[in-house]
Amino acid sequence: MLLPDKTDGDTEWFTNDRFGLFIHWGLYALPARHEWVRHNERISNDEYQKYFNHFDPDLYDPCLWAEAASNAGMKYFVVTTKHHEGFSLWDTKLSEYNATNTPYGKDLLRPTVDAFRAKGLKVGFYYSLLDWYHPEYTIDHIHPLRDELAAREQSKERDLSKYVDFLHGQTRELLTQFGKVDILWYDFSISANEWHEGKGKNEWRGEDLIKLIRSLQPKIILNDRLEIDQDVKTPEQFQPREWVQIDGKPVVWEACQTLSGSWGYHRDEESWKSVDMLLQMLIDSVSKGGNMLLNVGPTGRGEFDYRALERLQGIGEWMKRHQRSIYGCTQAPEEYIAPPDTRFTFNPKTKRLYLHLYSWPYRHVHLEGAAAKIEYAQLLNDASEIKLLSKIPEAEYGAMKEVRHSTLLTLEIPVKKPNSAVPVIELFLK
Ligand code: GLC
Repeated sequence: MLLPDKTDGDTEWFTNDRFGLFIHWGLYALPARHEWVRHNERISNDEYQKYFNHFDPDLYDPCLWAEAASNAGMKYFVVTTKHHEGFSLWDTKLSEYNATNTPYGKDLLRPTVDAFRAKGLKVGFYYSLLDWYHPEYTIDHIHPLRDELAAREQSKERDLSKYVDFLHGQTRELLTQFGKVDILWYDFSISANEWHEGKGKNEWRGEDLIKLIRSLQPKIILNDRLEIDQDVKTPEQFQPREWVQIDGKPVVWEACQTLSGSWGYHRDEESWKSVDMLLQMLIDSVSKGGNMLLNVGPTGRGEFDYRALERLQGIGEWMKRHQRSIYGCTQAPEEYIAPPDTRFTFNPKTKRLYLHLYSWPYRHVHLEGAAAKIEYAQLLNDASEIKLLSKIPEAEYGAMKEVRHSTLLTLEIPVKKPNSAVPVIELFLK
């Protein structure tokens, strides 16, 4: 099987750990109707100021967040240090528009980093290349003021390169003041439209930025949204059909997914995914050689919403008994063809194959081409044996006699689906 080429960042732990927590937190937790609220409702800096003036997450306790993530089986986290709204969670020296100047009055990034690190999770920083607050950030076609012709006119006086100096400067702060940072997750480059030339690698001075990043944190994992491919591709809110490729070669990839559609806390959203669906998405990613970064948007008081906690708990309940089919696993060798409604993952070190059953068939699962290679099978949740039908005496076959000497392997499963959101059969290869 073709494997991704090595890149500058250290992706070894990343492709082993497979599952991380995304955190989108900022002033937008207060309007509580999407982190793009400024864009959606065309809100100016002045109108948005009320959220800064009322931002006071009194129940913020990052140890609880880290515990929830760790119990869910997540091994790393990526937090929005600054989102498109331009507000910084840390005590940046480059802008007053940060957490320490809100009623809360304290840095919100450092305690988060400390708490997650203490729980053994790797540290990732999301940083928005867009900045709707900064006075030198030019007004483009997705900016909150895009429809105000006077503002657009005035924007011609803005000097984007001054903003880009700021973005480089904030990157330097993030990579020098918080110890080892494992992931830097930039977001995102803007393509042109009829009246704006877009913002991409040239505008961000991407190559210089990458040099700076690598000089400060050589092994950091850097994503692709500077418009320069680095260590990881980041499909968003969909599941790729197959292992993500560039020019026909598989690459390291991570799907980022929401619980309910919005990334920031959204009070009224109703499209929350079920635990079963979320698990299927995680498994699906690993079965195609990828990771999943699952997002929670904490509330304006600093808590994970009850619906998010319920999902994380449900995932953790499954992970407790099934993590062997996730950590250290990847796409199975091509010869193993997953039957309908199932996904294979494979651990190349232990040589075990994991069959995830998204729907529970009656009594038998047939695996093509696997007969000669599998020596033992069990349900992962309770280590109860699953009989391999090509191995038991011929007399017991009855009507299935014809498959006895074929390459088909039939697994005999219990009629009743095990008490597990997604049952897994662990197959030991010879
Ligand atoms: C998008 C959105 C953003 C979110 C991000 C996560 O690009 O602009 O709100 O933070 O995706 O992948």
